Amino acid sequence: MSSSEVRREHVGRSVGRVDGAAKVTGRALYVDDLPARPGELHGAAVRSPVARGLLRSIELDPAFDWSDVTVVRAEDVPDNVVALLVDDQPVLARTRVNHAYEPVVLLACADRGKLERAVAAVRLELEPEPAVLELEAALAAETVISGPDNVQSRYLITKGAADVEAEDRVAASRAAIERALAGCEVVVSGRYSCHHQEHLYLEPNGMVAWWDADGLHATGSIQCPYYVQKGLCRGLRLPAERVHVTQAVTGGGFGGKEEYPTMLALHAALLAQKSGRPVRMVYGRREDIEATTKRHPAVCEVTTGCDRDGTLRVLSLRALYDAGAYVTLTPVVLSRGVLHAGGVYAWRDARIEGLSLATNTPPSGAFRGFGAPQTLWAIERHVDRVARELGRDPAELKRQNLLRVGDSTPTGQVLRGSVGLAECVTAALEASGYRDKRAAPPRVVGRKARGIGCSVVLHGAGFTGSGERRLQGKVAVDLRPGGRLCIRTASTDIGQGTETVFAQIVADAAGVGLADVDFATPCTTHVPDSGPTVASRTVMVVGSIVERAAQKVAARVRAEQAAAGGSFAAAGDRLLAREGAVSALEQYEPPGWVAWDDARYKGDAYPAFAFACDVAEVEVDLDTFEVRVVGFWCAADVGRAVNPVMCKGQLEGGALQAIGWALTEEVVWRDGRILNPRLTNYIVPTALDAPPFETFLVEAPFEHGPGGGAKGIGELPMDGGAPAVAAAIEHATGLVLDGLPLTPERLLAASLARGEVKP
Ligand code: MOS
Repeated sequence: MSSSEVRREHVGRSVGRVDGAAKVTGRALYVDDLPARPGELHGAAVRSPVARGLLRSIELDPAFDWSDVTVVRAEDVPDNVVALLVDDQPVLARTRVNHAYEPVVLLACADRGKLERAVAAVRLELEPEPAVLELEAALAAETVISGPDNVQSRYLITKGAADVEAEDRVAASRAAIERALAGCEVVVSGRYSCHHQEHLYLEPNGMVAWWDADGLHATGSIQCPYYVQKGLCRGLRLPAERVHVTQAVTGGGFGGKEEYPTMLALHAALLAQKSGRPVRMVYGRREDIEATTKRHPAVCEVTTGCDRDGTLRVLSLRALYDAGAYVTLTPVVLSRGVLHAGGVYAWRDARIEGLSLATNTPPSGAFRGFGAPQTLWAIERHVDRVARELGRDPAELKRQNLLRVGDSTPTGQVLRGSVGLAECVTAALEASGYRDKRAAPPRVVGRKARGIGCSVVLHGAGFTGSGERRLQGKVAVDLRPGGRLCIRTASTDIGQGTETVFAQIVADAAGVGLADVDFATPCTTHVPDSGPTVASRTVMVVGSIVERAAQKVAARVRAEQAAAGGSFAAAGDRLLAREGAVSALEQYEPPGWVAWDDARYKGDAYPAFAFACDVAEVEVDLDTFEVRVVGFWCAADVGRAVNPVMCKGQLEGGALQAIGWALTEEVVWRDGRILNPRLTNYIVPTALDAPPFETFLVEAPFEHGPGGGAKGIGELPMDGGAPAVAAAIEHATGLVLDGLPLTPERLLAASLARGEVKP
């Protein structure tokens, strides 16, 4: 059955969430709701109070009764490594600590109150060392954390004039791009910075681990069951068939439950092994904010050249990302950062360099957008700056330079289709009344000034380059009695709606009802490895093989129906009786034309990009410099909306998360420790802070996407909110802000610097 023959009864409709009733009635069991297993203990970590230091000794207070407390130290860990990309991060620190809150000792006890007292009864004798806490200090290499310098990973993308063959490509391409810039009519430079962001999923990280005759079991709040399994196998030296990882119902992830749960699962498993009891570890909000990963802070230096008529020609960009103390996923995050650094523009010549640097802060990690929001913040703010220099409206300048089908990105990827960019820009600008609002002088009512601003962004779906080909993600669809179909996949529903959209895709592909589709609990023992639930890949990549598997199983039932009659269910039951099991296992294969050169960073970085234009309207209080977003318009090219309401929900939720990053969220540090690890002082926008959203779905189908062309959109809405808000503030106040967050303090400082307000 080719996709054009599929009748679509479910895809494209906003069916209710299949997991909705269980969640709103409280039937759904999150990890902390799971009934205690017999003999279960609570676990806790003792963490470093300092950012960097030598660990001299660990002393257990002799006055404390340790008889019912299990203690695990680094020497108890069979292989003291959290397996990810590089084996640099220990499960427990042994001789030194590299960031505050680094775990050193684990404790378990049946009594939670006593456990807390036990944590306080552990004395860490640490000899503090000078710590590197900022990107700039890391670059200056005043103190080297590890290796020859603090540079941890590095990328170079070159296009056009910058794409030179030379022994020293870094230097030669730099000289070449400088020559190209010198030949431009207008050259503009800027520097753009952005800061940490905490995921603040509703449900903190949590895990329960226990051992039995089958080996080790871990159940928790996770995005990627197979990542956790891999980490447990390595750290505990176990074969995969002895490690059973199951996802509990999960209350949000945003990347924060991509790599971190591996650490937590190792901790719970080690305590369970040593105590011989099940162990539960559920973080409180404070520990979750302090100890887990956050978005990478970044600094981007940008110089561009253009014609006097505004045609953008040459891009030179250098991005520095703060990796924190261990590598975790940073090289991949930085990769996505540099791959999105050109934004939505057709550069003739480009040189994009990215460096990640080690600092003594808790490791930065995956966070919705995965490196792209940082460079897109920079390029969007920068194009606003170019518009200022040229005396042009920024949105019009952006529109003039948009990528079109046939254009190529900085990696030389020629866009083959599914580029709904121009439609997005038109829809968002028109709906918001952007042109009229910009044409008039900023409206000031009393001491409140209004302004409007726009950003245009793109986001590649799926693993980068050859990643999906290496990953070989798999799913299975099984025929069950009564003509039911069951999806077995490791792609988890973490609140974003996987179960529902996969059910819609299967129902249409098989020609069955939505109520005839089941979703198996993601457990490494029972579902194939679909790859991680990350990278905006669930619908576009995994959904496409879910669709194919459902088509194959249904085709067998239909053939049986054609041969011997009866209903779909009756034919299915006959097949099952005859064959025992009927199932299709499908493996993802990227479109044949995808070609990627990892060594040169050239080619088709992603099979498809989603695009969006965001327009923000703000009201700035000219006395307090508080900023309120009073309207937000988003038009996104999603390829095909499988479930329009949920798709808009992703776009609006992501935009609000971006608004939080832009305006109020700020991790406040002192000596590498966090001063505001709670909801009262780490300020995320609530429903009351949400502006009215108007969201438009543009559908430029991607021919390899499921449901008639769906693309990945989970991360796209995180990309454009901050630059749109900054542009709106600039319009309202004339204040040019190139560093996030845009807090009242920073607006005041900018205003003072202009000599406008007397302190
Ligand atoms: Mo992610 S930030 O690719 O879970």
